[in-house]
Amino acid sequence: KFEGLAPTPPLGWNSWNTFATDINEQLVKDIADKFVELGLKDAGYEYIVLDDGWMARERDADGNLVADPEKFPSGMKALAAYIHSKGLKFGLYNCAGSETCAGYPGSRGYEYQDARLYASWDVDFLKYDWCNTEKLNAEGAYITMRDALAKAGRPVVFSICEWGDNEPWNWGKDIGHMWRVSGDISNCWDCEDNHGTWSSWGVWKIINMHENIRSATGPDHWNDFDMMEVGNGMTAAEDRSHFAMWSMLASPLIMGNDLRSATKETIKTLTNKEVIQVNQDSLGIQGFRVSNDNNIEIWAKPLANGSWAMTFVNMNEEPAQLSFDWSKHKIIDEENAKKLDLQQKTYQVRDLFNHKKLKDTKHKLKATIGVHDVLMIRLD
Ligand code: GLA
Repeated sequence: KFEGLAPTPPLGWNSWNTFATDINEQLVKDIADKFVELGLKDAGYEYIVLDDGWMARERDADGNLVADPEKFPSGMKALAAYIHSKGLKFGLYNCAGSETCAGYPGSRGYEYQDARLYASWDVDFLKYDWCNTEKLNAEGAYITMRDALAKAGRPVVFSICEWGDNEPWNWGKDIGHMWRVSGDISNCWDCEDNHGTWSSWGVWKIINMHENIRSATGPDHWNDFDMMEVGNGMTAAEDRSHFAMWSMLASPLIMGNDLRSATKETIKTLTNKEVIQVNQDSLGIQGFRVSNDNNIEIWAKPLANGSWAMTFVNMNEEPAQLSFDWSKHKIIDEENAKKLDLQQKTYQVRDLFNHKKLKDTKHKLKATIGVHDVLMIRLD
């Protein structure tokens, strides 16, 4: 694979969660404009990724994929140029199977040809899905596409979208820069949405399914907890917690909302640089659960230079009083040999959503946390 393209988790936007296949050229240009206007680019968001539905239903006479001429009349190369002119990067979607999940032409048997086409369009990112893959071996199929991209020669972030059934965290490291760990996210706190043959999962369902694969993640190879649902209908508190947790998990932060109509509060959450900094920490360690006291989820993430991030998420249906006595907790990341060493050091505590200094670790950490809201702190 192209090494070094994702030293920290990729940040961007993907069309699927809000628009499904109802996408077009103007929408994408508007999203690129919004990246700049709303401060998203400044906060670090970089990739604009078109998911399923960008293609015509058939390949052309030479077997090349064709951008849907009605949705994208100027073609993909022009769209890539527009996105690049804003200092952003451009991503596309396809699938390892014969057809994509929405029934458009898949890459099976056309991997090298498709990779050449993406390179000729100046594509920087490929999300590669796993529908209609009868009899294909997952690792083999992703290796084929990785090699095809390498041969085409243009550096591309390769995003494995296999949903976790074949445990890509065990083989994805040398193949892709990130891999989905679950089926599709649902725009809800802790639900399971049953669609007949498949289910989609609320924020906490995804978190709880996959906290045990944290050692698989790291610079250039990330566990991907799926595109975010921030701004898509959960409460503002739930959105903050969702965003905080994706940051704690060192997941790629791929927005999935309509940036043209996003509220100020949504943008405030998505552009919180102090939280993003936790996500983008150079150690690239995935956070872990410390405990669940009185239904307050407590998570910790070691950061560079001996700093730590912690989140306290109130899972209760009423506000909770937090009174956290540092001396009563051991916060140790055995896998990474990191320890919050309160005997040796008094840490300064900073509230990353309210952007203010709190009392240091000689004092109890006290706060009222609203329903499904989060207290996120940094310890330096
Ligand atoms: C799968 C993926 C989604 C999205 C759709 C597109 O369900 O997991 O993220 O790409 O396909 O059809």
